[in-house]
Amino acid sequence: MIKNNQEQKVLQTGQNRAMHESKGLELDRTISVAPMMGYTDRHARVLFRLIAPHSLLFTEMVVASALLRGDRNRFLAHGLDAPCALQLGGSDPKDLAECSVIAADAGYQEVNLNVGCPSDRVQQGAIGACLMAEPELVGDCVAAMQAATEIPVTVKCRIGIDDQDSYEAFSNFVSIVSQKGCRIFYVHARKAILKGLSPKENREIPPLKYEYVRRIQQDFPNLLFYLNGGIDSVDKAVTQLQTFPGVMMGRAPYKDPYLLAELESALYGIELPPRLDIIHQYLEYGRSQKDAPRHLLKHLLGMYAGCTGARHFRRTMSGAITDKNVSLNLVYDALQQAGIEPSTKLAASS
Ligand SMILES: Cc1cc2nc3c(=O)[nH]c(=O)nc-3n(C[C@H](O)[C@H](O)[C@H](O)COP(=O)(O)O)c2cc1C
Repeated sequence: MIKNNQEQKVLQTGQNRAMHESKGLELDRTISVAPMMGYTDRHARVLFRLIAPHSLLFTEMVVASALLRGDRNRFLAHGLDAPCALQLGGSDPKDLAECSVIAADAGYQEVNLNVGCPSDRVQQGAIGACLMAEPELVGDCVAAMQAATEIPVTVKCRIGIDDQDSYEAFSNFVSIVSQKGCRIFYVHARKAILKGLSPKENREIPPLKYEYVRRIQQDFPNLLFYLNGGIDSVDKAVTQLQTFPGVMMGRAPYKDPYLLAELESALYGIELPPRLDIIHQYLEYGRSQKDAPRHLLKHLLGMYAGCTGARHFRRTMSGAITDKNVSLNLVYDALQQAGIEPSTKLAASS
């Protein structure tokens, strides 16, 4: 279906673009890569950017109070990842407003408020999904953030929490938050269960209800809703793009980053970049970084997902990555051992 419908997809993308422009929202959110703690760090985002020039990238969640009182540079340092949204966790409008200014000054193109994380730790700090029960407060946060900065302020939320899971409750949340000025919502289309499920289970157990997001889009045609949750193939993304202005993907592109290249190729008609070229560029970037090689190498584990030799490559990489003396050239050795790339090409690069 994908390959035969190229025109339709390009047309679809054109419609998405027009929709963004007509709302004065210059960022292309057709595809975004979800915020993921422990995964979407600044190095992963450079890899994603090399693979997918059009996608909007998200940072890991940064807790507002930590940003204000902690090592700011550690949280904010980034480069080569634009356009990128900094995700904030918090519920103090004043703190969040201050952090939004800091985010814009640090070169982020969007600031996003986390209203979806269900972990106990964040609930104690009144952060994340528990805020679904406090739409007025979320609205106040967004209003304060918007008053403080020119960059777009968006919300990433769930469709509900615990027994507050009716469509009406979700609609009430969106209605109140949007009245205070939020126009863009990324919706993880499953509710969060705040007691009794781990964050991991909360990403798998409550069922996905895309119909809630479809309906909210119809009921609030002046707002933009981006669908998130369970989109793990080019086919699924393209199908949902017929209904939504954009899709957000998390686990799938982390496990198989090249999926983003295939998706961008299907949507924008660009040529698929050779995997090895991406690796060369990423390692060139890596050589300019002070972090230990393992912090960069770990993001490459899925680069050959689905290819012959991928398991061998992954195993060699994972086995050696924790070695203190590992060098970035481990990738080339692992590719050679797995018989994935011709040794002549590799010899020229390492
Ligand atoms: C390891 C991991 C960490 C995550 N961290 C965050 C986070 O910091 N902020 C957030 O809003 N969502 C976080 N999420 C949720 C994702 O952004 C996304 O909503 C979820 O994984 C569903 O999308 P998917 O099915 O495409 O993975 C995390 C997910 C995973 C797997």
